[in-house]
Amino acid sequence: MNYRHAYHAGSFADVLKHLILVELIKCLKQKEKPFFYLDTHAGRGIYDLAGIPALKTHEADSGIKRLLALEKIPFALADYMSAVKACQSSPRDYPGSPLLVRQLMRPGDRMALTELHPQEFECLKTLFARDSQVLFFLQDAYQGLRALLPPTPRRGLVLIDPAFEVTHEFDCIISGLEDALRRFQNGIYAIWYPIKDRYGVARWMRQLKALNVPFLNVSIQPEADSESERLRETGVVILNPPWQFDLTLKKIIPSLLDVLSSDHRGQFHIDHYGV
Ligand SMILES: C[S@@+](CC[C@H](N)C(=O)[O-])C[C@H]1O[C@@H](n2cnc3c(N)ncnc32)[C@H](O)[C@@H]1O
Repeated sequence: MNYRHAYHAGSFADVLKHLILVELIKCLKQKEKPFFYLDTHAGRGIYDLAGIPALKTHEADSGIKRLLALEKIPFALADYMSAVKACQSSPRDYPGSPLLVRQLMRPGDRMALTELHPQEFECLKTLFARDSQVLFFLQDAYQGLRALLPPTPRRGLVLIDPAFEVTHEFDCIISGLEDALRRFQNGIYAIWYPIKDRYGVARWMRQLKALNVPFLNVSIQPEADSESERLRETGVVILNPPWQFDLTLKKIIPSLLDVLSSDHRGQFHIDHYGV
């Protein structure tokens, strides 16, 4: 396991994923009933935008730093940015998915985190020590899915956010989802993915359709003609999306691209399957 998220924290891909995450949590909070949140690849919980890894890649420069530099935050991005800022004790802090969600949880809501990298896990443990609403496990994501679902309460969200270090990660997600859906059929599942191999992604979409669960797929490519070797395009799939979540995406994604696309030729797609 070589992947360390500190090199990528606050990138455009992180911002897309976390923006959607905040909007999904807002939907869960529309009902008084408590929710459960499982983050299968939790990471370390908080990242340093001025640390050596971040300064080596500068990925946050084309992501969260653009948003943090705005004098006026677009309305559609305001809740995400408030959540980020509420987690910052210094402007160099960038919250990972567990911290963002923890910040939005109510007293009855619960969170479980799995992370396999021992050092990332240590950081997570320190961050959430003595927090009775958070459970954390040094465990494989897909084993965690089996062990922790179905949750109590039986409503909630699972974020699957792998490092994609192994070539068969897309297949692991499908088998993890097949099992998870048997245990927690009505759960919302958000899955982040990189778009590097279009053929591979198209095959994965067919596998997702075969799960027979409604889903939304949103993808963005902020820079039209980037020559960079870096990841240029990314997406998030949302299984069992909340009612009218497509309308939410249609508000937040163009606003996000307005900020992230320096050549103003960024592209996005929002596709529905069975929704
Ligand atoms: C993309 S990062 C997660 C970022 C985090 N979800 C966030 O948004 O802040 C992926 C994480 O998965 C961890 N990881 C890799 N393989 C794993 C596995 N099989 N089970 C659990 N965690 C794993 C990596 O150590 C890394 O911290």
